[in-house]
Amino acid sequence: MDHFHLIDGALHAEQVPLEDIARDVGTPVYVYSRTTLVRHAQVFRKALSALGDPHIAFAVKANPNLAVLNVLQREGYGADVVSGGELQRALAADIAPKDIVFSGVGKTGAELDYALDTGIGQFNIESLEEGTELAHLADARNIGAPAALRVNPDVDARTHAKISTGKAENKFGVAISDAPAIYARLTAMPGLEMRGIAMHIGSQMASLEPLEAAIGKMGVLLGELRAAGHTVTHVDLGGGLGVPYKAGEELPSPTEYGAMIARATKGWNARLMFEPGRVIAGNAGVLLTRVIRLKRSGNRTPFMIVDAAMNDLARPALYGAWHDFEAVHPNGEKMTVNIVGPICETGDTFAMGRECDALEAGDLAIFRTAGAYGATMASSYNSRGFVAEVLVDGDKWSVVADRISPEAISAAERVPDWLK
Ligand code: LLP
Repeated sequence: MDHFHLIDGALHAEQVPLEDIARDVGTPVYVYSRTTLVRHAQVFRKALSALGDPHIAFAVKANPNLAVLNVLQREGYGADVVSGGELQRALAADIAPKDIVFSGVGKTGAELDYALDTGIGQFNIESLEEGTELAHLADARNIGAPAALRVNPDVDARTHAKISTGKAENKFGVAISDAPAIYARLTAMPGLEMRGIAMHIGSQMASLEPLEAAIGKMGVLLGELRAAGHTVTHVDLGGGLGVPYKAGEELPSPTEYGAMIARATKGWNARLMFEPGRVIAGNAGVLLTRVIRLKRSGNRTPFMIVDAAMNDLARPALYGAWHDFEAVHPNGEKMTVNIVGPICETGDTFAMGRECDALEAGDLAIFRTAGAYGATMASSYNSRGFVAEVLVDGDKWSVVADRISPEAISAAERVPDWLK
């Protein structure tokens, strides 16, 4: 459920007409609903209530905007970060270091140092090599870094190949067959306090079966590690629950997800940890755009050229992803068009042959389900600048990320004297 709805024939974010935001901030612009974020955070937590006191860390990569992170911090969420930049943002949003988990396959020495300095709650170690480096850095400070070993359970998440992370051929985690030996070596290293195991098998999962299969494998590993005398008090089950991108699409609900987890982890006697991203932020944001013009050529499907492009919302170009598209002032009529941005490559296509609300040049529209992996994946390709972001709460709204103009971006560049 979200709070982007029609009031008197005009799309609003909560109580704010989207037209007002477009007028004052310009387009394209991401608009997030605080009420929706809070609702999703609460529904997800409630769905896991049978698990005791799970640790829930929002996957910052899904939406790293400081205001969004702060909304979630107020809901008691920690942060799952994958870079020094994300760690800095989580801290800036007032998320307590102890609630921060550091994932990621290529943490640099400098990033590990930074995370040790801030005293984060858990490092999810992705290899023996990374664990060894972390152990040295921590030992040099005479501290023990709290850590879990990320395991690759070799399960097909049945999602888009580019966002599947738990198959043996993917770069993430250590092979589950190697995990006991690596866990033993890491446990023996001064500088590490091994406390658990972690997994994350993929994103936008539309079925719970792969997750359940992976959790089953983690349960077997948990038993093996304990039988070998190791301490395992924490198990991080990652994120990955999918969201509906098309009106009417049915996906497993957070409640079904929670019930499956409770069943699959029964008797584990470990604190469970989660890293949801999309399920919290996806439907809490839209990308507001204006139609530049309709281009008709022969008897082909017309092109609707909007002022948002693949640099603002990369998902359709990258993964062939579907985002529902709706007029801000629908007149009840429909048309079939190819929805494209202005960028000079054919990949800058949001939808082909889409039946959508009838629109004309100058009209406003939204791409839905753009709150996760939207603005965060924006670029300035074609020197278009960086898209702005707005947060709405009831009838209040604020710009929470300024548009960064092409001039501001080029101000960071220079022509060296020796060229002149
Ligand atoms: N934890 C780890 C270690 C991850 O790598 C990810 C996402 C998550 C948690 C959160 O997954 P979620 O709950 O959001 O599915 N750009 C792609 C998605 C990439 C996801 C990468 N990892 C997209 O737009 O679909």
